[in-house]
Amino acid sequence: MSHTIVIFGASGDLTSRKLIPALYLLSRKGRLPENTRIVGMSRTEFSHDAWRADLKETTAKFTDNKFDEETWAKFAANVYYHPGDLTKLEDLKGLKSFLEEVEGGPAERVYYLSTAPRLYISAIDCLGESGLANQEEGSRRIVLEKPFGYDLNTAKQLNKDVNRVFPEDTVYRIDHYLGKETVQNLLVMRFANSIFEPLWNRNYIDHVQITVAEEVVVGRRGGYYDQAGVLRDMFQNHLLQLLMVTAMEAPVKFDADMVRDEKVKVLRSIRPMTHDEIVKETVRGQYAGYRKEEGVPADSQTETFAAMRLWVDNWRWNGVPFYLRSGKGMSCRTTQIVIQYNQAPHTLFDKKKCHLDACRLVMQIQPAEGIQLQIQSKVPDEGMVTRMTPLAFRFRQEFQGELPDAYQRLLLDALQGDASLFARSDEVELAWGIIDPIIETWRSEKPPTLHTYETGYWGPNESNDWMAEHGRLWFDVCPVLH
Ligand code: BG6
Repeated sequence: MSHTIVIFGASGDLTSRKLIPALYLLSRKGRLPENTRIVGMSRTEFSHDAWRADLKETTAKFTDNKFDEETWAKFAANVYYHPGDLTKLEDLKGLKSFLEEVEGGPAERVYYLSTAPRLYISAIDCLGESGLANQEEGSRRIVLEKPFGYDLNTAKQLNKDVNRVFPEDTVYRIDHYLGKETVQNLLVMRFANSIFEPLWNRNYIDHVQITVAEEVVVGRRGGYYDQAGVLRDMFQNHLLQLLMVTAMEAPVKFDADMVRDEKVKVLRSIRPMTHDEIVKETVRGQYAGYRKEEGVPADSQTETFAAMRLWVDNWRWNGVPFYLRSGKGMSCRTTQIVIQYNQAPHTLFDKKKCHLDACRLVMQIQPAEGIQLQIQSKVPDEGMVTRMTPLAFRFRQEFQGELPDAYQRLLLDALQGDASLFARSDEVELAWGIIDPIIETWRSEKPPTLHTYETGYWGPNESNDWMAEHGRLWFDVCPVLH
């Protein structure tokens, strides 16, 4: 059976920056299923050759030294362009005829909606009406980029509308964090080794910290970002995904539904926050200068930083707080999950001479991808003095070759029909159910204070004060890159 991936929104940024380079690199490694073609569609008029020429330039730029003319020529021969408006039935009927012509027989198709989310519903309706979603003609999958809705109600409606045309097992909602090698490795670390499991619970762990810090500011995305804010942009999806992968139980098999069933159980276990808890147990921040960004109103109340404490009320995690934070304009780019273990129960060593921090496991998702177990060791030649020292594993030292971009994994999985690393409808709705009440309180008449922070720090000082009130410290360490 041959395969076609149809990219709607073909002239957009995501297509040239991420999707085509990922497909090109997969084809270079011989990973694309045999007889795979790529068809782009957007309203811009291009000939096949003009689109290929544009993509050649951008792909060369985004794949650096992995670009070569010969592989590109082979790849580009299977790249086509069909102009049209995906919300117009006539245009989709035209696309259907075009696909049948280039496929020349039965084919499995993946439709990738790389378009503005407001077009999703009319696009999906047209895919249905035009017969493009007819599963009897071969498998028809749909890939959706985030955001999946704007809140719980819109997410539910979107899921209903999508599922009217595409059954849930053909819907692939991308959260690119799940395509990151280090996030998948977290599953491997937890479930392919036996030594962590006995220590992965309330008996040994004091708390968990999940940080997604970005050094970049909002830049040209002000218009979008001001409507979204950090909770919709990062927490509803990426941070909660990291939390799920950290907290979930082992699935019986690495199977799309079994993995996602376990993740969903974590979301179901998260204790809903009351209004008072939201006021006390969250921190809102906005970086100084945000209101001057293009597309941002001068009195914007949108958060560019948030921190919160969540409880996972289940057998494993009862009483272990999960601290989550994310922001733009922070000290450095780092995504890390810190498992902070309990203190040793009894102190033998001189507290004045030793920094008796408890052990911690730091999973460095990006950059400097790797894992560090930080433990106390004896400082040589200084009596019984101790210091924290790392047992470290670095991907780039241990493994040759690239750490592929998340889109390679995710596109290949979509082509091969493996939805394990994609979000299911219930997962998305439960995640909104956690975030919505916080957004509502933050948008109420009396929201908690929006703290301003200078760029280049770890968010507002109040975030550190708040942690200190809980007797804890953020792990504010920028990864060492080399
Ligand atoms: C996107 C957000 O989903 O993730 C961006 O919309 C954010 O605001 C990006 O910058 C972060 O992704 P990564 O892979 O660079 O950590």
